[in-house]
Parts: sequence; structure tokens; C-alpha cells
Amino acid sequence: MKKYLFILSQVIFISSLEALIINGWIQPKNIPFPQDNPPTKEKIELGKLLFFDTRLSANNDISCASCHDPKKGWSDGLSQAVGDQNKVGRRNSPTLLNTAYLEKYFHDGRADSLEEQALGPIEAEVEMNMPIEKLVKKLNNIAGYKKLFAKAFGQEEITKENIVKAIASFERTIVNADTRFYRYITGDEQALSQVEQIGFDIFLNEGRCNSCHNGFNFTNESFNNVGLNDTKDLGVYELNKQKLWYGTFKTPTLLDIEKTAPYFHDGSVATLKEAVSLCGNGGRRPVTIRSPFFRDRELSEEEVDFVVAFLKTLSTKELNITIPTSFPE
Ligand code: HEC
Ligand code: HEC
Repeated sequence: MKKYLFILSQVIFISSLEALIINGWIQPKNIPFPQDNPPTKEKIELGKLLFFDTRLSANNDISCASCHDPKKGWSDGLSQAVGDQNKVGRRNSPTLLNTAYLEKYFHDGRADSLEEQALGPIEAEVEMNMPIEKLVKKLNNIAGYKKLFAKAFGQEEITKENIVKAIASFERTIVNADTRFYRYITGDEQALSQVEQIGFDIFLNEGRCNSCHNGFNFTNESFNNVGLNDTKDLGVYELNKQKLWYGTFKTPTLLDIEKTAPYFHDGSVATLKEAVSLCGNGGRRPVTIRSPFFRDRELSEEEVDFVVAFLKTLSTKELNITIPTSFPE
């Protein structure tokens, strides 16, 4: 512990405190809201209603929360997401925790903001299957929503821009630093047991997990092929067709990892132990292809257990969010 704090304190002198906090392990208190979508109470409350409202889907049965359930670590517990008419998508629903701090969205990073991201699931046939123009019309016919949009944006007419701005504003409030690890890294050495501290040490040293799962959000948002041997979903390669990007996916956060099984972009790994072992030991055997710097760290079973114990200290206490039970009419 002292060792790491020492390294962090060095950084203070070469850069600002802010950089330390952002690059380091301590989650900043400030949420980065974009300039063109500043948060207001009205907007966030409206975004929350939209997030939980199943009328945003073609058959009035799926909301964002169907796949990003606050009770399931803002994910759904399924290998692959199930959307409109029970169609099964090909990817695992990621947690929405701390997405406010990310720069790239989706497993392949194809969206640059939460605003841009939100259009994806609304329109995707295997998700909510709701063409945005249709949704705009539908919401403009709900007087209660018109009132709320007027309060939030100063105009009654509901536009697609304002729909995604409201949803994104709510999503940026899904941030949480309340973990045992946070207490530890901010100075309470008792917050982690000996076993968990050893796990963190392995995470940083033998495992070098932090060469990708780095900082308070446990991701540097790099894209890697971790040797899952998935030949059906080629990740970033599908977007740019460049060989180097074959089968690469965004490094996910490890916060709340205990709550968000199954794991990886395809949900193909059921347990946390198996996921750590796979990511620590260079992929699924025999590995057909993986990123060149993704290595076998030869972690023993015991070391994997230590890391798993550490990762369980990244579980957040449930956020105090009241889930809406009635919606605008
Ligand atoms: C049918 C299930 C489903 C529904 C409904 C759904 N999502 Fe998702 N969500 C997913 C899946 C699967 C992914 C990953 C897709 C990919 O990478 O291509 C995802 C990705 C995301 C991400 C990116 C997270 C990250 O770490 O990159 C955000 C943010 C998100 N969804 C928000 C929403 C919002 C907002 C809604 C409602 C408008 C919504 N989702 C509706 C399944 C769903
Ligand atoms: C070279 C970068 C890299 C290194 C090093 C690395 N990971 Fe990963 N990790 C990833 C990527 C990328 C994914 C997602 C891959 C995918 O879904 O195809 C991932 C996924 C995971 C997952 C599943 C997360 C989820 O939500 O599905 C766990 C758990 C995990 N890693 C733990 C570890 C641990 C523990 C270590 C160290 C022993 C480690 N990783 C080392 C890049 C890395």
C-alpha cells in the first residue's frame, strides 16, 4: 500500500492534482458533464423516466433497464442480451456504472458519447426496435412528457436530440465510488483483508492486470483480443477491417464485477474465477489469435483466488435511486 501511495505522491509534483486523480486509483468527485449538455435536476429526472419507460420500445415491453437493471449491477445476468420479440443479440450487456467517465462506448467503442450511444439500443432491431422518428412522434403524443421536456429544455416539442440528452444526463448520475477498495486507497488500510491486499499486489505485479484495467474505473479503454477464439464477432475489425484489430474489444471496467456475470463480450464465461484465469493466463486454449502484448502471466490457481478476492472488494453499495413506478400520461 505504502509503495503505491509513494508512486502516486511523486506524480503530484509533475502534474496537477486533477491528473493524479484521473490517472490514479481515486475516483474523482466531479462527474464530467459535457458543455453542450449541462445537467439540471429536471433533465436528469426526465432522463430517468425515459430510461425506465417500456414505451420507448416497439412493443411497449422493453426499457433500457430491462438489460441494464440496477439490481443486477446495471446489467442483466444473461450471456447475450434479449430484446424485442425475444430476439437474442450477440453481445453481453455491460454495466452502466461510471460510464460517465468513459470516452468510447459499446464493446467495440463505436460511439463517442452517451448521447450518441443512446440512439443505438432504441433503434436496434434486437433491442428496442424503435426507429427514432417513430419514437419522437409517439412521445409528442404524450402530454405529460411534453410538459416535462418543456421544463427541462425550454421547448415543448420533443426532438431526438433532447431525448438522448435527457437519457445521457441521467446515465451520468450512475456513478459510485462506495467500495471497500475506495476506502483502502483513500487511506483506510483496514478496509481490505490481508488476502485482498495480496490480491491487489498480484493484480499490479505478477498479473499486470493494470496494463489494461487501470485507474479508478479499472480500464484504460484500450482494445484487445484476449484470445476468446470467437470467430463470429470480430469486434473493432468489423468497423475498420484492419488485421491488427481482429477480434479486439474494449477493456471493460472491473467495478461491480462480482454482480455482472457472465463475462466477456459474448458472455461465454460463467464464473469470475474462470474469467480471471483466462485474462491472466493468455486466453482460451488452444489460443488461435490474441493481441501481441496480451501475455500468459502463468498465474497459479492460488494466485487467481487472491485476485478474485481482491476483485470482490470492487463491489459498490447499491445507489440510492428510486425507480419510477408511474410514468407521464
Ligand atoms: C436488449 C437489451 C438492451 C437494451 C434494451 C438496452 N441495452 Fe444498452 N447495451 C446492451 C448491449 C448488448 C450492449 C453492448 C452492445 C455492443 O457493444 O454492441 C449495450 C451497451 C450500452 C452502453 C455502452 C456501455 C459501455 O461500457 O460501453 C450504454 C451506455 C447503454 N448500453 C445504455 C443503454 C440505454 C440508455 C438504453 C435505453 C435507451 C439501453 N442501453 C438499452 C443491451 C441493451
Ligand atoms: C492486454 C489487456 C488486458 C490485460 C493485461 C488484462 N485484461 Fe482483463 N480484459 C481485457 C479485455 C479487452 C477484456 C474484454 C475482452 C472481451 O470481452 O472480448 C477483459 C475482460 C476481463 C474480465 C471480464 C469483464 C467483464 O465484465 O466481462 C475480467 C474479470 C478481467 N478481464 C480480469 C482481468 C485480470 C484479473 C487481469 C490480470 C490477471 C486482466 N484482466 C488482464 C483486457 C486485459
